[in-house]
Amino acid sequence: MSTPIEATTVKAAAPKGDMISTLANKWKSKPGSLIMALHELQTKVGFVQRESAMRLGHEMGVPLAQIYEVVTFYNYFKTEAPGKYIISVCLGTACHLKGAGGVLASLSKELNVPEGHSTPDKEYHLQAVRCLGCCGLAPVVSVNNKVYAKLKPDDGRHVIECIQIDKPMIEAEQESAVD
Ligand code: FES
Repeated sequence: MSTPIEATTVKAAAPKGDMISTLANKWKSKPGSLIMALHELQTKVGFVQRESAMRLGHEMGVPLAQIYEVVTFYNYFKTEAPGKYIISVCLGTACHLKGAGGVLASLSKELNVPEGHSTPDKEYHLQAVRCLGCCGLAPVVSVNNKVYAKLKPDDGRHVIECIQIDKPMIEAEQESAVD
């Protein structure tokens, strides 16, 4: 039987609206920091939005043109959302040990798409990522900027049901993350 939604749904680790500042402060004084900051941004949000790139550049003191040089050079970076809801399944060590592979498989089965692909209607994109920074809540899945925690390997359907209920909240959190 599925765990109640409230018990498995938590806010993302970064405070709403402060995600870009947190990333900028974390990376701006480190060598090679721009790529790492962009990588973390894409891991959290699923792609590098123009508004996020502008704010990140402003807070790190990097011109937008330089950010786009990096983003367009590496195929890894996406500048457009591959799906409206980007479901990122953490396969980092803590999550892996607690059954994240099963969570990914059950989501893939539920959505009928393999990892790294979007549903034909572009509503959902399923991807595997490395540590989302909340290992104590493993295994975790983030959807845009919202985190679902302590999942069971066969919770794929439960996660999709939670997303459907939470869609307005997910969209509001995504907007506030780049304010
Ligand atoms: S390993 Fe999954 S959140 Fe850290």
